[in-house]
Amino acid sequence: MTALQIKTTLSTNRKPKPDPEHLAFGRNFTDHMFIVDYTEGKGWHDPRIIPYQPLSLDPSSMVFHYGQTVFEGLKAYLSKDNQIYLFRPDRNFKRLNHSNDRLCIPHIDEDLALEALKQLILVDKDWIPQAEGTSLYIRPFIISTEPHLGVAPSENYQFIIILSPVGSYYKEGLKPVKIAVEKQYVRTVVGGTGEAKTGGNYASSLKAQEISEKVGYSQVLWLDGRENKYIEEVGSMNIFFKINGEVVTPALNGSILAGITRDSIIQLLKHMNVPVSERKISIDEIYQAYKDGVLEEAFGTGTAAVISPIGELYWNDEKLVVNNGEIGKVSQELYDTLTGIQNGTKPDPFGWRVQVTPETTVKEMHSGSFVY
Ligand code: COI
Repeated sequence: MTALQIKTTLSTNRKPKPDPEHLAFGRNFTDHMFIVDYTEGKGWHDPRIIPYQPLSLDPSSMVFHYGQTVFEGLKAYLSKDNQIYLFRPDRNFKRLNHSNDRLCIPHIDEDLALEALKQLILVDKDWIPQAEGTSLYIRPFIISTEPHLGVAPSENYQFIIILSPVGSYYKEGLKPVKIAVEKQYVRTVVGGTGEAKTGGNYASSLKAQEISEKVGYSQVLWLDGRENKYIEEVGSMNIFFKINGEVVTPALNGSILAGITRDSIIQLLKHMNVPVSERKISIDEIYQAYKDGVLEEAFGTGTAAVISPIGELYWNDEKLVVNNGEIGKVSQELYDTLTGIQNGTKPDPFGWRVQVTPETTVKEMHSGSFVY
């Protein structure tokens, strides 16, 4: 097996960095990107870090026509003492391969993908913002690039990682958001692609989101696609409710995204001795809890959204105001603990933080490991 370095070509045209105090979500991109090609029969090859640039793709590339693509989202944090941390990055690359299975895309080597990410971050480390509530959002994604209009798995792919310094996902920041429960449209059904992180799930969500935004709601809460009854997830996050002292979240059922923040929150709640369960939750149960005065808190979780308190649910022409439209005690504690673990200001009893240093980053990749 011959040793192969990730070929790194540094940009000679560095961009000005955005104001860290006014960072929007996903609008600015760093100076470099990682890219590796896949060719049927040859596997993944030619890993490289290159200046951030547009892609040149044949208009018949399959991704444009049939949406054979997957993506991930994770973040890097710069601590007060200038250490760089990732949060459970192994879980993202594992989930990427899970999505790959569903979309008939060849697996990537998870360890090598993580090494490539670390190298990319080190190249662009000056882009990691340090202000409160900011981070470097990481978007790994795979696209099918074979020029072919037949409906079949592509024979060529590109796996790319781009980086974006970000502030909070919602303009509200940590102020509670308003969410409309969706009655007309569905996101996916069990047996569909809901569990995979693939663009089509998000494309199909846009119509409902557009309608709800027009009437003042940030996103929609999806109900299951078969009975239109059970709660699944919100546009870009999983959802939790605190009812009468217990925190509940919909159990994973094949159409809900297995959020890494969701999993972390369940573990944190157990650690905090707050009762938590994963189960089927109907919208009727939430409505009843609201009427009975025991719907104490609601919040969404996600990499982009972190913990996003929900101050109002719109359902059946009624506004269900949660906790007077204010962030709840448990939501605030979860936010403080999670972000503290992520940015290095709090202890990490779970071993979730992964430090990125030149010493912990392997400088060479072995070509054989990229080939399947
Ligand atoms: C994330 O939270 O990282 C996501 O991928 C959600 C995205 C659609 C903004």
